[in-house]
Amino acid sequence: MISLPKLKRLAEREGTPLLVIDHDVVRANYQRLHKQLPRLDLYFAIKSNPEPQIISTLYAEKSGYDVASLQEYEAVLENIPTLRGKKRDDFIWDKIIVANTIKPAETLKQLANYNTLMTFDNRYELEKIKEHCPDAGLVCRLRVQNVGSVVELSSKFGVEPGDAPNLIEQAFELGLSVEGLSFHVGSQCTNIENYLNALEASAQIFKEVKQRGHKLRLLNIGGGFPVPYDGSEPPFEAMAKKLRKEIDRLFPKHISVVAEPGRFIVATAATLVVEVVGKSFRDDKWVYYVNDGVYGTLSGVIFDHIPYHFNAFKRGDKRLSAVVGPTCDALDTVSTAEMLPELNLGDLLYVRNCGAYTNGSATTFNGFPKAKILNINT
Ligand SMILES: Cc1ncc(COP(=O)(O)O)c(C=O)c1O
Repeated sequence: MISLPKLKRLAEREGTPLLVIDHDVVRANYQRLHKQLPRLDLYFAIKSNPEPQIISTLYAEKSGYDVASLQEYEAVLENIPTLRGKKRDDFIWDKIIVANTIKPAETLKQLANYNTLMTFDNRYELEKIKEHCPDAGLVCRLRVQNVGSVVELSSKFGVEPGDAPNLIEQAFELGLSVEGLSFHVGSQCTNIENYLNALEASAQIFKEVKQRGHKLRLLNIGGGFPVPYDGSEPPFEAMAKKLRKEIDRLFPKHISVVAEPGRFIVATAATLVVEVVGKSFRDDKWVYYVNDGVYGTLSGVIFDHIPYHFNAFKRGDKRLSAVVGPTCDALDTVSTAEMLPELNLGDLLYVRNCGAYTNGSATTFNGFPKAKILNINT
């Protein structure tokens, strides 16, 4: 983790708002996950942080990529020299999975130029794939319980497990090739039961599909691996131990098991530095207006349901304070309860664990520019 004196020096040199991404931490997080789940091939979910330099760093770690759009697909091709310019028949299944169950027809037409894996969860998508990208390797996404996960995903995606064998049958009848199953237990998932139930349901479907004469060879357990935002999360190692055991119990070694981690790889790798640009006293507390907020890097307050906390570089008696962003919208309130020393205009604050679902969903609302990204230890 970057030291505070260094962080402050960088912010003074580069200006604020500044998002410092430490690639040593990206690598360490990837290696930790790989060590805990050694059977799994990891496909980094680019949506969690689309910074191109992260694609390159993870390529050196032998990561694959989960992409949600043609733009993300192309970002991988552009940032990985050995994939650039690849054509159909070049085997890139081990590097990219299009893990969005709904793909525009135009995207499918472009993806037909590659030999790619993609998810689906309904008949209409299968027909579209048949028309535009019939040689894709298909992965049927299941609807699984997301109980207790911070970001819920099952309301929008996944076929009910009971309907999955018929849907997979329909795909084969259309002449398509179904390679396996996927699920996502919801992001920032601390409830191991979500994974265990989903693994059990997947194993049942593997069996039923086999009885119907088709073999599946891939299981994608999605993302969701939790990050220690406030220290209350259970240690990941204990969760991983149960996952390893259950995966090995339910899925023989010839089944490839993959995951699409996003948050786990990048959340703790980035620190945001902001500057106090305004100050007032309201409702019995100091309110600090800073130059980044929920329309910018801290967009995760809204979209990702993560409460971000500010720390001051300077010392002093701490008082309950509020920190708000720079735009004209009152929604742009990052926190109404921070313990901070009294700050002056020009003082800097920092926010740890800002690497996932932050810069990727930042806007330039009201004309305020996005934070500058500084990659260190690349
Ligand atoms: C299909 C899919 N895969 C992977 C991810 C990454 O999940 P996480 O950041 O929780 O690891 C997401 C997140 O929304 C997703 O929708």
